[in-house]
Amino acid sequence: MSPRAAEVAPGQGGGGVSRVLESALGRWRLAPAGDGAAHLERLATRHGTPLYVYSGPLIDRRVARLRAELPPGLALLYAVKANPQPAVLGRLARQVDGCDVSSAAEIAAALGAGVAGRDLSLAGPGKSEAELAAAGAADALVVLESEGEARRLAAFATGGYRPRVALRINPPFSLAVEARMGGGPRKFGVDSESAPAVLSALRTLPLAFEGFHVYAGSRCLDAVALAEAQRATLRLACALAPHAPAPVRLVNLGGGFGIPHFADESPLALAAVGDALRSLAAEAARRLPGARLALELGRYLVGEAGLYLTRVIDRKVSRGKTFLILNGGAHHHWHATGALEGRRHLHFPLAVLGADDRPVECTTVCGPLCAPHDTWAEDVLLPRAAPGDLVAVFQSGAYGASASPQSFLGKPPPGERLVEWPDDAHNPIPEENDNA
Ligand SMILES: Cc1ncc(COP(=O)(O)O)c(C=O)c1O
Repeated sequence: MSPRAAEVAPGQGGGGVSRVLESALGRWRLAPAGDGAAHLERLATRHGTPLYVYSGPLIDRRVARLRAELPPGLALLYAVKANPQPAVLGRLARQVDGCDVSSAAEIAAALGAGVAGRDLSLAGPGKSEAELAAAGAADALVVLESEGEARRLAAFATGGYRPRVALRINPPFSLAVEARMGGGPRKFGVDSESAPAVLSALRTLPLAFEGFHVYAGSRCLDAVALAEAQRATLRLACALAPHAPAPVRLVNLGGGFGIPHFADESPLALAAVGDALRSLAAEAARRLPGARLALELGRYLVGEAGLYLTRVIDRKVSRGKTFLILNGGAHHHWHATGALEGRRHLHFPLAVLGADDRPVECTTVCGPLCAPHDTWAEDVLLPRAAPGDLVAVFQSGAYGASASPQSFLGKPPPGERLVEWPDDAHNPIPEENDNA
């Protein structure tokens, strides 16, 4: 397969098939060469559309590549919020050191996937009593977001049981990304300048303190910015350690590793990230002996391993402008509207499959919802498509089905399948191993 990716129309911020789109498509170019579009068509026919397809082998390769760069001993957690689909979670559960979870349902899902309760880390502001209780029952680490939350959790200490906690710090810095989650006033964590007082309050509570957690932002593609935030996080942990009620055994550096979506974005330079983390681990061993570093990553582990398949329902021309209407839209893939990143239209790379030999036209690609934001891409160059054609939306493995308003308009939910495909370049496609 060599599907032609959506090009940005001249005057719309780019031109030519971008490196990003090429690289996204390259990872999905399948074995045996040339059969990729046909295999996706078979999947779409077998399971119906719209359909999320997640690649087990691409997830495995991503984790292996990442592990090869990470310092030994660093704990790699999977942020379940990125994609809680049971087969995806089960696939990752075997390969990571634990999971970042945000609710009782995610705790249950991670336990069900085989992750040990002690390897779960519950983070997020406004945890309910039920969530705190579920964390306690699993002996999960609770990442405290406020002193009030610490006091509510302390009520769950009974007999000899002391809930395990880390204190989330709102640092004085942020990651230079759209989705900033640190620096300035935040609903997340405890301001760094207030942390000493909160740490001394923790001394009075029946909680087992383990360390610190900082999450400064998401979707960062800049290895230098990531390294700076990680260094600053370690410095902060070292400065706060003397105030802590117990030796620091954990410094969760957060994550924020991004994947590219736009024509002008390049993949994160993982080797540089790895170099910086290895030297940080050496520094941590000197300055905070006994503390384990951790990362919690979502989209970086699964985002590029997923695509969304949707069919063209209608092709129409309105006052000279061509529109494709697909059967899949923002109710399944809210992320593609850019709402999660606070911008309109992320322009996920997309391709009309099996249409390489057709003439190209300028097209606006929309979903079926009665809402103008339900637009996949505006004024992109695509091979001329017709009703029935299959469109693949790449980079769709994270914040897809579970992060979308699926009940809007009462349209059916998307299918989701984890497949053993694409395999490496010379292996045939093992059709029967696909599972839900
Ligand atoms: C606390 C926390 N950890 C991890 C993540 C995962 O982020 P990403 O999928 O960008 O890696 C998020 C995302 O919002 C988060 O808030």
